[in-house]
Parts: sequence; structure tokens; C-alpha cells
Amino acid sequence: MPLQWREQMSVNNLIIDQDHRYLLCLINTVELSLRHPESGDHLRIALEQLSQYAREHFDREERIQYAIKYSHYVEHKLAHQRLMERLVVLTERILTERDDGTLSSDPEELTQLLRDWLLDHVLKEDMKMKPHLSLHPANLLG
Ligand SMILES: [Fe+2]
Ligand SMILES: [Fe+2]
Repeated sequence: MPLQWREQMSVNNLIIDQDHRYLLCLINTVELSLRHPESGDHLRIALEQLSQYAREHFDREERIQYAIKYSHYVEHKLAHQRLMERLVVLTERILTERDDGTLSSDPEELTQLLRDWLLDHVLKEDMKMKPHLSLHPANLLG
């Protein structure tokens, strides 16, 4: 089931919210590709796009944090690094299992891992920025 961004996920910054919305979309695309393994190499492409966009998003978010002098900047940056490492592991697991025909986990379960990967961070860590971001224009860029 595709998951859409909801207003409760907002951190009061349009650029960050838009990125989170798009990351959820990319995860929905990964789910579709998992459900349709016959459709060429869409799965690999979707996972690569997710990884590339996540990296861009983390950089953008860190620039915004820097601009507002966010006090948890350093630990948040480390959390982003760990998220990228976790995404590499998840991506390799999915593609390896796909390639050797042992993709035993069902698409729903694998997609849930990716949603948890994103939403645990957005709802717990990114949300802590909300009161700080609320003091600045919603279109603030880093
Ligand atoms: Fe984020
Ligand atoms: Fe973040």
C-alpha cells in the first residue's frame, strides 16, 4: 500500500517537507518495483534514486540546520551518516536476494523496513527541529 505524506509529518519548512514527501514517493516506487519483478531493472534504479535523493536531502537539511544554528547539528549529521550506512545494507540485501532468487521476504515487509528507516528519523529526530524552524520563514533555504 503506498504511503503518502501527511500534515502531521510537517517540520514547518517547505523545502524539508517537500523532500520528505518525495522520499516517501520513491519508497512507494521501490514497493511497486518489488511487486513487479518482471519489469526489468526498475528495482535497482528505484533503490539508486532513493539513495541519491536521500543523500541530497540530508545535505540540504544540514545546510538549513547550520543556517538556523541548530544546537543538535553535529549529532543529527551523525544520524544521517548512520542512515546512509543502513540504506546501503538494506539495498544490498534486497538486490542480492533478488539476483540469486532468494528474495524470500514479501514486498510489504521489505517496503516497511524502508518506511521505518525514513519515518523513525523524520518523526523522532527531524521533528525536534520544528520549534526552531517555526521561528524562521517556511521557505528558508540553507
Ligand atoms: Fe529529513
Ligand atoms: Fe534529518
